[in-house]
Amino acid sequence: MEVLQAIDRNKLPKHIAVIMDGNGRWAKERGEDRVYGHHEGVLSVREMVNTCAELGIPYLTLYAFSTENWNRPKEEVNALMELLVNTIRKEVDELKQNNVRMHVIGDFESLPEICQKELNEAKEITAMNTGLNLILALSYSSQWEITEAARKIAMDAVAGKIKPEDINDGLFHQYLNTAAFPDPELMIRTSGEHRISNFLLYQLAYAELYFSPVHWPAFRKQHLYEALLNYQQRERRFGKTSEQIQTNTPQHV
Ligand code: IPE
Ligand code: IPE
Ligand code: MG
Repeated sequence: MEVLQAIDRNKLPKHIAVIMDGNGRWAKERGEDRVYGHHEGVLSVREMVNTCAELGIPYLTLYAFSTENWNRPKEEVNALMELLVNTIRKEVDELKQNNVRMHVIGDFESLPEICQKELNEAKEITAMNTGLNLILALSYSSQWEITEAARKIAMDAVAGKIKPEDINDGLFHQYLNTAAFPDPELMIRTSGEHRISNFLLYQLAYAELYFSPVHWPAFRKQHLYEALLNYQQRERRFGKTSEQIQTNTPQHV
């Protein structure tokens, strides 16, 4: 509770991105199968979504399945896809009630049809919601996303829709899967790994990175509060000097 009270509600990040890692190790430590860890991880997703909604954080992106995760054993991949379908089915009503709007980023067509159908329904059902935007990264990798963006820009240039000299950071953002969302300000990775693993490489340019030793299935709201407090104690300089930030010197453009 103390940590929550220390958090400045006016300085919360607008967008939190999470690499939910450590399900397998958490399960192994308990003598269980990796898939058990994935199931328990869903409870942490629930708590994360509810806590972000309570705090009024507008965007939450969860890395649920990477392009590289397709290379895992077939049984684990199948179990994860099944878990995805069942979880969406079970949770969609509550998401709707809690004013959560669901979005998906990643190579949607590569997902099994049943997943696509369930996700499309959930997106439709929650489309009018105005609270938390919950963005699931599925079959997602940043290098895939950036390569796709480059290909679409090239096609539009060839078709005469844009000129090469129009290509700038703003235009590039519009071709990314995340075009409708602001860039994350805080990125949390659980389970003690200090890497990005192909997640939002472009969008995380100025995000604050927070690494928690806690495995994802054990990650609770208290851990999120600690991450938020840590985030608020940092100075975000965006290339400027500390003095400029403190005296609010007008931006040089
Ligand atoms: C994260 O947990 C979930 C997914 C990548 C789908 P892991 O399954 O990577 O768990 P560890 O890292 O092997 O412990
Ligand atoms: C990153 O976790 C992907 C997701 C959390 C979905 P991984 O466990 O797949 O990442 P690496 O292999 O340890 O880098
Ligand atoms: Mg992992």
